[in-house]
Amino acid sequence: MDRRKFIKGVGLAAGAAFVMPRFSIARGRDLNSRVNVAFVGTANIGEMSINGVNGDGKSNFAAFCDLREGAMRATLDKMRKKGIDIPQNAPQFVDYRQMLDKMGKDIDAVCVSTPDHSHFKIALDCMQAGKHVAVQKPLTHNVWQCRELDRARKHYKLQTQMLNQGHATDSIRMIREWYDSGVCGDVREVHVMCSGPGWGNIYFKKPKEGFPLNKEPAPSYWDMWINQAAMRDYNSIYEPLSWRGFWDFGTGMLGDWFCHTGDAPVWSMELYDPVSVELIDADCSFDQKVFIPNGSTVKWTFPATSKRPECVMYWYDGNREPITRPKDFDAGRKLPTSGMLMIGDKHTLETGPRPNINPRMSNTEFWLEFRKNRPAKTLPRVRKDSVYCEWLDAIRGEGPEASSNFGVSSRLTETALLGTLAQRFGGKIEWDAKNMRSPNRPEIADYIKEPERAGWLSKAF
Ligand SMILES: NC(=O)c1ccc[n+]([C@@H]2O[C@H](COP(=O)([O-])OP(=O)(O)OC[C@H]3O[C@@H](n4cnc5c(N)ncnc54)[C@H](O)[C@@H]3O)[C@@H](O)[C@H]2O)c1
Repeated sequence: MDRRKFIKGVGLAAGAAFVMPRFSIARGRDLNSRVNVAFVGTANIGEMSINGVNGDGKSNFAAFCDLREGAMRATLDKMRKKGIDIPQNAPQFVDYRQMLDKMGKDIDAVCVSTPDHSHFKIALDCMQAGKHVAVQKPLTHNVWQCRELDRARKHYKLQTQMLNQGHATDSIRMIREWYDSGVCGDVREVHVMCSGPGWGNIYFKKPKEGFPLNKEPAPSYWDMWINQAAMRDYNSIYEPLSWRGFWDFGTGMLGDWFCHTGDAPVWSMELYDPVSVELIDADCSFDQKVFIPNGSTVKWTFPATSKRPECVMYWYDGNREPITRPKDFDAGRKLPTSGMLMIGDKHTLETGPRPNINPRMSNTEFWLEFRKNRPAKTLPRVRKDSVYCEWLDAIRGEGPEASSNFGVSSRLTETALLGTLAQRFGGKIEWDAKNMRSPNRPEIADYIKEPERAGWLSKAF
């Protein structure tokens, strides 16, 4: 795609994602143009990004980058065997900075599918090279990075998307339409549950030797994998995949799942900028500041807005049931340990672990009546219910700014990351959102904005 013909979007306020934005006015736009997409992080969830972009049907595979060259080759072969048309000579890189340097003019957009701690620097470097970006969830590893990426979206006027798939679905729009119809009444309590971590699976491993970890020979890419985080000795438990348990890199179950399970209530009810977030209790095998809990309960308190009264939200991991049993919950039905409840003074609305899994009103008798005459659809739907199509359509100027653009997803991620701060540092953390600080816990300032390692500083803008 000719970059000079490229339409670049003008940032929208977070809540206005569904309004057809001004940037879609055709200014030299080439509607038949194909978007040249590059991928940073190709194995594991990177495969989902390759599949997703392939599903768009109107994009090219411009380049691939992964620190683990063998894993990258294996992924591309696997994708080709599945019938995805990836050229045999598609450019491959180990260092995304070289990819941007060497192929910058041939890349329009980048999908970032690396571990949580490296999303920020990679995404920002791509944006500063003029690329539209789509980034896995959670958007970033700390609150400051969330706000910076949204500032970059507005500053560089680029199309952005966080790849929390549920946000492009019909279901999440339906849930918001149900909530807006008033069927729940006033919702003052939200519960978000996640049954993991499933210790011993590919994602969550406990260090057998405890801490400190044994030093193992580091692969040549270790410095690049560490990215902005503090350097340390290599241990193969960190990567791939099982970095999730270590707070310096991952964000635990909460960071892994909240952007799916908590997305519908946060977006529908605008659960942003809590006045406090509190760890009710946690069960930990290791130092709580270093390694994630086996199970925990976290509580946020959101002040009243013009749209709703004050609301508390609870998060549970480790297979815990919500502490409240809604009055209208079917007698005899077990409370879920994975899913979401929005408890209203009239009715309770629930979903499974993603907004598009079993959305329903909790009371079966009421649900059977309600579904015969559901609230009208008022929100526009997304092509193929796909976060990728939505983002690529926005880049081509064929659709509005994507609904999980960084204006929206940075706020969802910020709510999630405040929960992880409570899990990590315990107690009650009062939150001054405007000034991005905790008045009663000044010691967490270095985690609200983590230090950037020398050689990996982000470029000011
Ligand atoms: N949307 C979803 O449903 C979903 C599901 C799973 C994971 N995720 C998210 O996707 C991201 C990646 O998770 P994963 O489980 O695939 O992790 P992973 O450890 O398997 O990393 C993915 C790939 O990125 C490569 N990589 C790591 N750092 C890199 C760098 N600096 N440059 C280039 N390549 C690099 C790795 O070698 C690996 O092949 C995480 O943020 C995770 O939370 C999202």
